[in-house]
Formats: sequence, structure tokens, C-alpha cells
Amino acid sequence: MGSRGAPASLVAFRLLALQALYMYCVAGDIEEDFLLIQDKSFSNVTVYDREVSCGQHRPGLFPTETWTCNDIRVDGMRIAYGYYPGLGADSKCTETGGFDELRELCEQLLKKSVAFTGKLWGAQVSNATCDFTKDTRVTLNMVIGGFEWQEMGPGHGMIETLQCTAFPKEEEHGGTVL
Ligand SMILES: *[C@@H]1O[C@H](CO)[C@@H](O)[C@H](O)[C@H]1NC(C)=O
Ligand SMILES: *[C@@H]1O[C@H](CO)[C@@H](O)[C@H](O)[C@H]1NC(C)=O
Repeated sequence: MGSRGAPASLVAFRLLALQALYMYCVAGDIEEDFLLIQDKSFSNVTVYDREVSCGQHRPGLFPTETWTCNDIRVDGMRIAYGYYPGLGADSKCTETGGFDELRELCEQLLKKSVAFTGKLWGAQVSNATCDFTKDTRVTLNMVIGGFEWQEMGPGHGMIETLQCTAFPKEEEHGGTVL
């Protein structure tokens, strides 16, 4: 699963595909219950010298362990949202060119906020807008020797929700049996 910004329709498709894959996996074992797990939020942590905060958590149920950051902000700023020109339905959301190291951001949040030691499966943008903002936005970029936040001026596209999904385990505990 790519971590580059993706159109909302693609994100929805990926989540569906994830769910379908999971159901296919458990279908082979008739003894297995179909478990959905409630997602969790992150606490505020410093990632590459800036504070990443999550707002009011809007919980949901997911086929694998998931952490959701609603109203995600970096030092109070929005993360820019965009994808490769020509890929999406909305031609405005192309300023980042799809470059935004969201997978790395998930890795850092999982390490620093929840001490997760498993394997990250996907970093998904599950809520974003291509609307114009006059506010300064940020992107996380790969640079020589690591990663750094870079600021972007006014323009189109902001991320509202970032979701970090863990690889499915053989057995999930503490889930809701449906
Ligand atoms: C996290 O940061 C946000 C934004 O700065 C702030 O409103 C919130 O109170 C902080 N949460 C905690 C638990 O410190
Ligand atoms: C997406 O974010 C907006 C702005 O915060 C919010 O009003 C809306 O309810 C969110 N949509 C979903 C599906 O979570």
C-alpha cells in the first residue's frame, strides 16, 4: 500500500480491498470469528522536531489494528494533501505532486506515541479536502540523511485524517465479535 496522497475514492477502495482480503483470509477457517477492532488515537508527540497532535477522535471498527489521527496538525498546521497530476478526479490537489512521507509519519507516530512494535501495513488518508486554504501547510519530505518537515504557502489540499494500519495478526484479541 502506498503512502503517497491518494484521491478519496482510491482510499475507500483500498479500505474495501483490505476488508475483502481479511474476510477471504478468515473464510478458510470456519471456526474463526470475524473480529473488528476499534481504532485508537495517538497522543501528542514530537516527530522530526515538530509537535504532531490529533484532535477529537471519531472511533470506527476495522479488520486490523488501526490508529487514527483526526484533525491532524503539525505545530498547529495542516499537512498538505495531493497526488500525482492526472491521477485524481480533482485537478486542484496536485501541488505536492504526491510527495508526502505519510508512511514514515505513521512509523514515527506508532513508535513514539504507542510503542507499537509490529509491522505497519498501510498509511491512509481517510479524510482530506482539495479546497483552498490561505494557511501555511507542511509536508514531510525525505532529505539527505533523513526526513524533514517543509512548509508550503497557501494553496489547495489538506489532510484531515491519517490512519495507520497494522499487518493482520494470526489471532486478534480484544476485538468485537460480530
Ligand atoms: C494536544 O495538542 C492539541 C493542540 O495543540 C491540544 O489542544 C491538546 O490539548 C493536546 N493534548 C494533550 C493531551 O496534551
Ligand atoms: C472530515 O473532516 C471534516 C472537517 O473536520 C469533518 O467535518 C467531517 O465530518 C469529516 N468526515 C468524515 C467522514 O470523517
